[in-house]
Amino acid sequence: MKPYLSKRQFLKNLTGVAVLSQTNLSDLIRLHEHLPAEKLAEDEQFWTKIREAYEVPKDFIHLENGYYSMTAKPVMQKYLAHIQAVNKVSSYYMRTRQFDDKMISRKKLADLLGCSFEELIITRNTTESLDTIIAGFDWKTGDEALMAEHDYGAMLDMFKLQAKRHGLTNKVISVPLHPKSDEEIVEVYEKAITPKTRLLMVCHLINITGQILPIKKSQKWRIVMG
Ligand SMILES: Cc1ncc(COP(=O)(O)O)c(C=O)c1O
Repeated sequence: MKPYLSKRQFLKNLTGVAVLSQTNLSDLIRLHEHLPAEKLAEDEQFWTKIREAYEVPKDFIHLENGYYSMTAKPVMQKYLAHIQAVNKVSSYYMRTRQFDDKMISRKKLADLLGCSFEELIITRNTTESLDTIIAGFDWKTGDEALMAEHDYGAMLDMFKLQAKRHGLTNKVISVPLHPKSDEEIVEVYEKAITPKTRLLMVCHLINITGQILPIKKSQKWRIVMG
């Protein structure tokens, strides 16, 4: 397996993919990619150009980035063009070219993420990805899964369903709202881990509080996760 990308490199690559279809935006990124993030954050001209790539509503200020994420105009145009092209040849496309096309996308995404394409599955969203793992686990009665009450509802519901179907025990911890240290958070999780724990759901950032979880700091997590 290839080494993983740094977060900054990943975001840089992602921006590159999002604007691939519009040359002037690609040029814009290329011209600025050498700048440190703090400096670029203050470059109003750059951000005005990025803003122009989106159809920003005029009658209200859009501060929410959840629920439905706005797509940049060049990405939307490309997306619609693909739908139209597939719609023209319908099942002929599905029985012939779709497999090669999907493989091209899978390989590009794997390059972006720094993994091999065999390790990557494309799903429609976060819920589908996590629920596939939670519901696809070979649960045995008495197994335990560990999660936090602050985790996203769709995944908590899927764990509840597994508890009903397979006798899984869900241990739901509460992440402290005002932790004095990372260690305090780690301790809450560690105390809930038992020899029966088979799966932990730990998010990187709690969307309700903004708390970043110190993933690297727990030795026990590493043992449980192999
Ligand atoms: C914290 C969090 N996790 C997961 C999801 C689900 O994402 P998706 O719609 O990609 O399934 C959301 C959606 O807003 C979210 O806010």
